[in-house]
Amino acid sequence: MIPELSKPSVCMRDRQRVEEIIQSLRRAGPSTLQVISDFDMTLTRFAHNGKRCPTSHNILDNSNLISEDCKKNLKELLNTYYPIEIDSGRTVEEKLPHMVEWWTKAHDLLIQQKIRKDLLAQVVKDSDALLREGYKAFFDQLQERNVPLLIFSAGVGDVLEEVIRQNSVFHSNVRVFSNYMDFDDNGVLRAFKGQLIHTYNKREGALLNTGHFQELQDRHNVLLLGDSMGDLTMADGVHNMKSILKIGYLNDKVEERKESYLGSYDIVLEKDETMDVPNAVLSHIT
Ligand code: TMP
Ligand code: MG
Repeated sequence: MIPELSKPSVCMRDRQRVEEIIQSLRRAGPSTLQVISDFDMTLTRFAHNGKRCPTSHNILDNSNLISEDCKKNLKELLNTYYPIEIDSGRTVEEKLPHMVEWWTKAHDLLIQQKIRKDLLAQVVKDSDALLREGYKAFFDQLQERNVPLLIFSAGVGDVLEEVIRQNSVFHSNVRVFSNYMDFDDNGVLRAFKGQLIHTYNKREGALLNTGHFQELQDRHNVLLLGDSMGDLTMADGVHNMKSILKIGYLNDKVEERKESYLGSYDIVLEKDETMDVPNAVLSHIT
């Protein structure tokens, strides 16, 4: 049906069910569709030429806006909490307090660095941030078909917006839910705005943003893209959902996590650094 679904990176527990969902999305057409996607390691690459790519937090962590001391502390946090984030041996409930701790400590450290708003664009320019191969076709296609794209990220909103802008794909159909920086009158970081979003509370984040989903209430069908088990709840605010196709990037600890990903995502993309599959599905259904 879609040749890209035969790529070696594609795994599905129930191919027939996937085909049925795709058929029903196609029949309903683009005017009934909304796309909800995670940002870090879903729209951006996990690795390139054997080297890990930065998350939106890492773009700041690796920059000259942060002192060496602070870099060391942020690295320690990453080494402590990232293994917990991706540990398939712990439940989400067990992970929750650790994630709140990680984000709270990381944001406090960033605030201490008195980051200046006017330097963010240059920091993103100088970074190794990379959107996945095929990103332009993904964003452009959605814009052309008038399909809204919600980027739902536990990263740093100001930074990820800049990544999208610098790649010239921040089209008018794109909305972002994320952690935004709050700057004082001199343009210096003093806090983060609103309710904290971390990997495992996206459901609560979705339910807080009822206005957004209200606006899209006639779009009952969803294409969801994520790389974490926490991303599965990003569509929990959608009104009267009819069909949802969930595509999950399995980037790290592949063997250990494959079973649980196959049980939760309709299509699992194993170590696939491209947007080929989402793009092919979108071309077929819109
Ligand atoms: P996402 O929801 O856009 O994927 O963003 C969350 C990712 O950010 C998650 O995988 C962990 C990562 N992260 C860092 O890399 N550094 C940090 O300091 C924090 C708090 C999170
Ligand atoms: Mg992610």
